[in-house]
Amino acid sequence: MTNRLILGGHSFIKQLGNDPMPTEDQQCNIVAACIAAGIVTFDATYLPERVALGKALARTGLRDKAKIIAWNFFQDFGPEDSVSGHAPYQPHHLEQMLTELQTDHIERLVVHPVDDPAEHERQEKLAVSWLEQGVVGQLGTWMPPIAANHPKGPYSFAVAPCNIRTTDAAERFEAYKNVGWETVATSPFVRGWELEKQSAGRPIVEVADAMLRYATYFPNVDQLIVAMRRVGWIATNCASVAKGPLSAEEVQWLLGNC
Ligand SMILES: NC(=O)c1ccc[n+]([C@@H]2O[C@H](COP(=O)([O-])OP(=O)(O)OC[C@H]3O[C@@H](n4cnc5c(N)ncnc54)[C@H](OP(=O)(O)O)[C@@H]3O)[C@@H](O)[C@H]2O)c1
Repeated sequence: MTNRLILGGHSFIKQLGNDPMPTEDQQCNIVAACIAAGIVTFDATYLPERVALGKALARTGLRDKAKIIAWNFFQDFGPEDSVSGHAPYQPHHLEQMLTELQTDHIERLVVHPVDDPAEHERQEKLAVSWLEQGVVGQLGTWMPPIAANHPKGPYSFAVAPCNIRTTDAAERFEAYKNVGWETVATSPFVRGWELEKQSAGRPIVEVADAMLRYATYFPNVDQLIVAMRRVGWIATNCASVAKGPLSAEEVQWLLGNC
């Protein structure tokens, strides 16, 4: 069974979530439960997420069943530190990422743009060379601008948030599709740890179900990254996806109340 969902890397760190950081055994359980449920793609944005995912895939022996998305974030941090920003790819980063992920290839690599255009061009060329070597399967880009006739570049997919607060998502994901990119959405719950605040008095489980289906079936969204550090969320969220899109009335309610 395939699934539109991708496991978010924030499942593996302490920051940016509600539940405590999973232990290594729990991380293995999460990865195995995802694969069993047909969630075969795993995002690893930050360095500690790559290390945790690499370890979990090695320990479970499931690397061959998994697809990895990696990003250009190279600062290490511990559970009590702030999460860190992105940096342009450098030649040694490929070997570093492969070591952290305990693998010899990366299915999808995101090139998060950097401000300096010359640096960005340099890192893009480097990423293309990794693609040409066959060590990287596909290149993706983060939040490219919404523009008619945007060049496709070396990218086959684009990643951007999609949830009830992303008011430009319809235009954005349509534009990306027009470029010819596959589309990957993130962050269906806006900030998952604020779900209680956003629930407008309705049970959180219902609001989470509605938000997940809103983002999963948003027009022109192919796949959705959601973090789940509690193994139980995997069955819950797969059940939500199996229900299909929200009705027009449910969308109205969600946008009007949350
Ligand atoms: N937003 C960005 O800027 C960005 C950038 C790059 C990559 N990403 C990728 O996108 C992924 C998702 O983004 P995100 O983590 O910010 O937001 P999110 O997936 O919308 O929210 C994740 C939170 O939702 C909770 N959750 C999951 N299923 C639930 C359910 N059924 N009911 C109630 N709560 C539920 C999780 O709680 P627990 O913690 O308690 O399990 C987690 O804290 C990241 O992990 C990352 O891989 C995002």
